[in-house]
Amino acid sequence: MNHEVFAARRRNLLQRLGNGVAIVPTAPERVRNRDTHHPYRFDSYFWYLTGFPEPEAVLVLAGGEQPQSLLFCRGKNEEREIWDGFRYGPEAAREAFGVDAAYPIEELDSRLPELLADRARLWHSIGHDSEWDARIAAALNTVRGQSRSGKRAPAEIRDLRAELDQLRLVKDAHELDCMQRAADIASAGHARAMAACRPGMAEYELEAELTYEFRRRGASAHAYPPIVAGGANACILHYVENDKLLADGTLVLIDAGCEVEGYASDITRTFPVGGRFTGPQKDAYEIVLAAQAAAIAAIRPGAHFMTPHEAAVRVLTQGMVDLGLLKGDLDTLIEGKAYSRFYMHRTGHWLGLDVHDAGEYKEGDNWMLLQPGMTLTVEPGLYIRPGEGVPEHLHGIGIRIEDDVAVTASGCHVYTTAPRSVAEIEEVMRHGA
Ligand code: GLY
Ligand code: MN
Ligand code: MN
Repeated sequence: MNHEVFAARRRNLLQRLGNGVAIVPTAPERVRNRDTHHPYRFDSYFWYLTGFPEPEAVLVLAGGEQPQSLLFCRGKNEEREIWDGFRYGPEAAREAFGVDAAYPIEELDSRLPELLADRARLWHSIGHDSEWDARIAAALNTVRGQSRSGKRAPAEIRDLRAELDQLRLVKDAHELDCMQRAADIASAGHARAMAACRPGMAEYELEAELTYEFRRRGASAHAYPPIVAGGANACILHYVENDKLLADGTLVLIDAGCEVEGYASDITRTFPVGGRFTGPQKDAYEIVLAAQAAAIAAIRPGAHFMTPHEAAVRVLTQGMVDLGLLKGDLDTLIEGKAYSRFYMHRTGHWLGLDVHDAGEYKEGDNWMLLQPGMTLTVEPGLYIRPGEGVPEHLHGIGIRIEDDVAVTASGCHVYTTAPRSVAEIEEVMRHGA
């Protein structure tokens, strides 16, 4: 890992802090049950600034004339390292992660008041974790108690996330590289699931194919709980049970991505369980595919965040008319949001360290303008639940096609590559990935 990348981000943030001090804790370990923990995942903001993988760590950034990065982390501990594995300890961490100084985490509370004293501003993710809010309030009160010796507590407390979200919205080369690797692995996982799919399998068998491919290729984990939804289960947007059987003649929707060096991919594919689309399935699929193509074509610097959504909605709504799901004038149907009965979510979101990544969607009253280096998903869908006026041959068809794109100087680059067209999917299902 190149620690200069993280040092550059810290310098960038420090410039924005003025005579302020920022406190950035990583995520705590969480108990799953009794003495078993959830797999550990660092806090995304902390990771963005350090690349330091251990729990019980805090970064303190002190701005001003001599900006400093201080890391507090677990000490070396031979006994614990025999049981739980390697720990850097402050000395090795300082060297390996390029911070100006590192201390044992136990010293944080005693050092905080001194770090906060005579600073204009304190930056923190206020409200994210009530224990941290209380810990920082205690340090502030200690400084306030020293006012007679001339120490002043920061008069201003600001939310650090506002600054970091702006930085995280535009990805640097290192981030784009991690995201490409996460996309490559997830693309291979989807292709593997397609090639393995047979009528009568359980949804979790396809989940296992994805997990196998993700781990085999070195991804640390799924980036979010995978959705493997056979038939009408695809019309449940957050279906994660993945425990039903896959029936011939139906479609299966898989929404799954993996994590590489903290970065997520987020891909959805929908394909026929038996390997061949039926006529109505293909008609519906081609509409979603055309909606996605229209959305992708609309992504370029200067377009706003909702432009691709608007492009997708136009194609989807026309498609709903063509399928006999809606009747009426296209513009009137769009204006009245008639499409929302069959397409009820947005066409994308920022993607990065978090699958629904950090970053505002509006600037003031206006949707955010796209810039080179921003990364987002493009994921139109069509979800046809049985109901009044819905032709029977379309009942229970649920389709989403989701790819990941990076905005470039002239448009965008689709960097996920799982089989996507009807021909590509049927080919992979016939002959393997
Ligand atoms: N997998 C979550 C999403 O597509 O937004
Ligand atoms: Mn998504
Ligand atoms: Mn998804």
